[in-house]
Amino acid sequence: MTHNSSVIILDYGSQYTQLIARRVREAGVYSEIHPCTISATELKAFSPSALILSGGPASVSAADAPGLAPEILTWGVPVLGICYGMQLMASTEGGQVVPAQDREYGRAELFISQDCALWNGISRTDGLKVWMSHGDKVIATPPGFAVLARTSRVAVAAMADVERKLYALQFHPEVVHTEDGDVILRNFLFRIAGLKPTWNMAAFLEENVTALSRKLGKQDQVICALSGGVDSTVVALMLHKAIGGRLHCVLVDTGLLRLNEGEEIVAYLRQHFELNLNYVQAQDLFLSRLRGVVDPEQKRKIIGHTFIEVFEQEARKIPGIKYLAQGTLYPDVIESVSFKGPSAVIKSHHNVGGLPEKMNLELIEPLRELFKDEVRKVALELGLPDFIVWRHPFPGPALAIRVLGEVTRERLDILRQADKIVHNELMASGWYAKVWQGFAVLLPLKTVGVMGDERTYEHVIALRIVDSVDAMTADWSRVPSEILAKMSNRIINEVRGVNRVVLDISSKPPSTIEWE
Ligand code: XMP
Repeated sequence: MTHNSSVIILDYGSQYTQLIARRVREAGVYSEIHPCTISATELKAFSPSALILSGGPASVSAADAPGLAPEILTWGVPVLGICYGMQLMASTEGGQVVPAQDREYGRAELFISQDCALWNGISRTDGLKVWMSHGDKVIATPPGFAVLARTSRVAVAAMADVERKLYALQFHPEVVHTEDGDVILRNFLFRIAGLKPTWNMAAFLEENVTALSRKLGKQDQVICALSGGVDSTVVALMLHKAIGGRLHCVLVDTGLLRLNEGEEIVAYLRQHFELNLNYVQAQDLFLSRLRGVVDPEQKRKIIGHTFIEVFEQEARKIPGIKYLAQGTLYPDVIESVSFKGPSAVIKSHHNVGGLPEKMNLELIEPLRELFKDEVRKVALELGLPDFIVWRHPFPGPALAIRVLGEVTRERLDILRQADKIVHNELMASGWYAKVWQGFAVLLPLKTVGVMGDERTYEHVIALRIVDSVDAMTADWSRVPSEILAKMSNRIINEVRGVNRVVLDISSKPPSTIEWE
């Protein structure tokens, strides 16, 4: 952690832990999540400016309940316990926690019984709407703690030892359903912990570019795979600022990209930045390897292996290459369900599969502290245009998993044209920015139609347009029918070989966003 002041969130397994980190960052304070199993010594080494104990599904009375080293509460570092974090603070300090009669879940009204800095500027002290989700409850505060608020069902809905800056809330201030939740969190950060809102993307950029140029010395050469998406472009531009011509970017035209996609991004980057950029033409290789392949998993494997092969060839051409830069984001890094401890699964990183080990390259991941929307803010700081900043996510195997069945040049061309129309109509109607992803899929079947007086027997295009916040779940977007009609008419009239367009109205789960 390179930041002057930062908040560490100890994760006890709440579904809201990431949300706490985001809210703190939105307030302008850097925050990091660490598993609750971190030792007090390790934690101290970070010199956190404040701590937040997250919620979690456990009960403090359970034998294997995740705990809190009591010494942490003696450091003088301000601590905010939320939900399970509150119960843990209470039991660690000698208060009494018991199972609630029944699990309280949902809205509650908060009645404030004692004024304190936490409540500064909230809109009401009687009946503040808060979000609860708990099984246990605190029935007696520890010595030195005062009750700050209650609800109709819990006598201790908030408590504090103001002197020692230990605060705790039974409700979740991080969720939008809690009225003035952001005010309460900011009060903890600014009024209680005395932090300053200095974390922003301009500061991030400056700090990290300097750190990169220091780390990379005067000789080191770095290679970076560009995809045309916002993450890899931001990584490349940060490194370019740090080491200039010692950054070597590679963009591979796999023949599976969208219409003119590679050309547009290369032209833009070459025109605006003096990037060392190698646009590698490998369409024939990819298409020959994919010939006759219809199984989605096999397609993915072939594309992944071929990509590594091409990228490795390019990397070997650069003498003294030492580092591989890539756009790993924070959600990829965080240990999920970390209250179970370090043995819990860590999400695998999407690096250029196995290449770093094979070529003995060290990884550089300048975005590993950031969420996607923060990367977009950095992109704006770097002056990148909207078409890169707001580009929809695009899968690694590209159009190969949207051409269902065999991937041929002819079928890719049909899909590319249809996809361009979907893209253009989403843009023209202002819907591009409203949806998570919108694209066309070429189905592996033909249907009968009639054009003029002639019977046709041609391809079917499906429209897949979805809303999502993180791609884990998604719902089909309710795009107005006039826009869908325009897409359908244009595709059937303008794309030779298509005589039918259908709309995908399935949610994820049980479907997925992509069709393969
Ligand atoms: P699914 O289809 O699993 O997609 O609902 C979720 C999100 O991930 C993208 N996606 C991929 N991204 N490599 C990637 O880098 C892949 O193999 C891949 N498959 C799906 C998809 O576009 C959506 O945003």
